[in-house]
Amino acid sequence: MGRLDGKVAVVTAAGGYIAGATARVWGREGASVVCVDIAEENVKKTAQDINDAGGKAIAIVCDVTDEDSVAAACAKAKESYGLITCLMNAAAGQDKKARVHETDITDYRRVLDINLTGMVIIAKHCLIQMLEAGIGSIVNISSIYGMVSPKERAVYATSKGGIRMLTKNIAIDYAADNIRCNSIMPGPIQTPRLLVRNPSLEAVLERHGPRLHIGRLGQPEEIAAAALFLASDEASYVSGTDMTVDAGYTSY
Ligand SMILES: NC(=O)c1ccc[n+]([C@@H]2O[C@H](COP(=O)([O-])OP(=O)(O)OC[C@H]3O[C@@H](n4cnc5c(N)ncnc54)[C@H](O)[C@@H]3O)[C@@H](O)[C@H]2O)c1
Repeated sequence: MGRLDGKVAVVTAAGGYIAGATARVWGREGASVVCVDIAEENVKKTAQDINDAGGKAIAIVCDVTDEDSVAAACAKAKESYGLITCLMNAAAGQDKKARVHETDITDYRRVLDINLTGMVIIAKHCLIQMLEAGIGSIVNISSIYGMVSPKERAVYATSKGGIRMLTKNIAIDYAADNIRCNSIMPGPIQTPRLLVRNPSLEAVLERHGPRLHIGRLGQPEEIAAAALFLASDEASYVSGTDMTVDAGYTSY
């Protein structure tokens, strides 16, 4: 018996590392998984892996900033598996380092649109189906940088802080509808994203070392494990929380 048997789950950024790992775990635990990403080859690979492992998944190429594209993806999810009951919201764009007075506002808006507004758009269309289903669980991926800010990354920190408040708002607005919403705040997780601003994983470890009390980088599967708990009925009394999965980074 799987921990997500009978659930219909949309996973955004499923072509990426953290959401890809989550989609695979959710599929293994019995959910029918709708894998969504703009990266066609990667999202198809995730869905294929789930199907090859005996699960059920489809891949949909969808830009979370485009409401028509999101509405079509959610309609396809319902047509394929029935009403959506779980959502992992994880899409994020690449932001440029800059202090605010040096910021390119067009680029700021682009990143905010993917990281934050995109989460609202996909949540909106999943919530419509969750209300009809009478049950739902949403897991939004924030970051430790939604709690403490890195230098020169205003848009990333702002978007990740915003995700935490979006999470709390959905949690209280839909609690009476049997729909829960939580966020996860990962610390540095070993994915290529870490190499955008750092020359090597060793450099990342050196930079964050004193705060990584567990003494290593995290793995995508460690975020997937937290997301599995939050999505499942085991978390039936958990809503509106921000779960740090960060080796103690933000505790000291
Ligand atoms: N890796 C880390 O250390 C870390 C730490 C904290 C938080 N996070 C967060 O976790 C999430 C996943 O990170 P990751 O490291 O797996 O990154 P990743 O780059 O592997 O995955 C991101 C995915 O988002 C997709 N995407 C980008 N724009 C999109 C759009 N408009 N519509 C649909 N999909 C889109 C990309 O194609 C990519 O597959 C992100 O929200 C990131 O901010 C990561």
